Amino acid sequence: MRVGFFQFYPRFGDWEHNLSLVLKGLEQTSADLIVLPELAFSGYYFQSREEASRLAQDPTRSPIVEALIQLCRQRDFYLVTGFAEKAGERVFNSALLLGPEGWMHTYRKIHLFNEEKEWFDPGDRPLSVQTVRGVRIGMMVCFDWVFPEVARILALQGAQVLCHPSNLVLAYCQQAMLTRCLENGVFAVTANRYGEDRRPQGTLNFTGQSQIVGPKGELIFRAPPEGDCLQVVQIDPDRALDKQITARNHLLTDRRPDFYRPLCGSDRN
Ligand code: ACM
Repeated sequence: MRVGFFQFYPRFGDWEHNLSLVLKGLEQTSADLIVLPELAFSGYYFQSREEASRLAQDPTRSPIVEALIQLCRQRDFYLVTGFAEKAGERVFNSALLLGPEGWMHTYRKIHLFNEEKEWFDPGDRPLSVQTVRGVRIGMMVCFDWVFPEVARILALQGAQVLCHPSNLVLAYCQQAMLTRCLENGVFAVTANRYGEDRRPQGTLNFTGQSQIVGPKGELIFRAPPEGDCLQVVQIDPDRALDKQITARNHLLTDRRPDFYRPLCGSDRN
């Protein structure tokens, strides 16, 4: 399977410009699966929920989604993209899985970061795994990396490749994802944006360094902090089926869920 990402610099509030960057960036690309950054078409640093809602689109009536599906048909690949999703009165920070056959799945970010709690509704659907060309993929969005439960649940559901649209502003995620991959025996494609959103309330800088990581926690490729970067690599997704660490240790069946009960409580201590 050929998986990759397109790191670019979305312009805040200008979906037509951002769509044209993606269509141009991917017009010659051969791949099976490409991951794009979080909120790839709207930009990130909203001033208010009203602004996020105005810049969000309903994927069932979205010119962005239509154009991306067309691109998937032309290039015969699948896309996972961050997307500001309008659903009636609600607004979600979502990731869409699109392919030649059309829309396939929407994941709504469950762990909202900082001011995102003012702009978005928290994700309301269970984590799940989809199949792309016979390979099981799991979707998570940016700050979900902080919660190891997300990658673990996706791995328990059989995910072989984690698709991780991001708009990272903290410095830790890229290194942490090596561990997420090692502890779950999965691949991960983190597609981050670079550049800044300069808005009336301040400026946010994004860290680039999109990356592809293998199931032993090995860094397969990392982009620079700045600059457009399209990277596709060949992976063997079957490597993510082998959860053996030693002859006597297995990443999933060695777990001791009886001792993990506090994880399932909703209290904070
Ligand atoms: C983030 O979740 N966009 C930091």
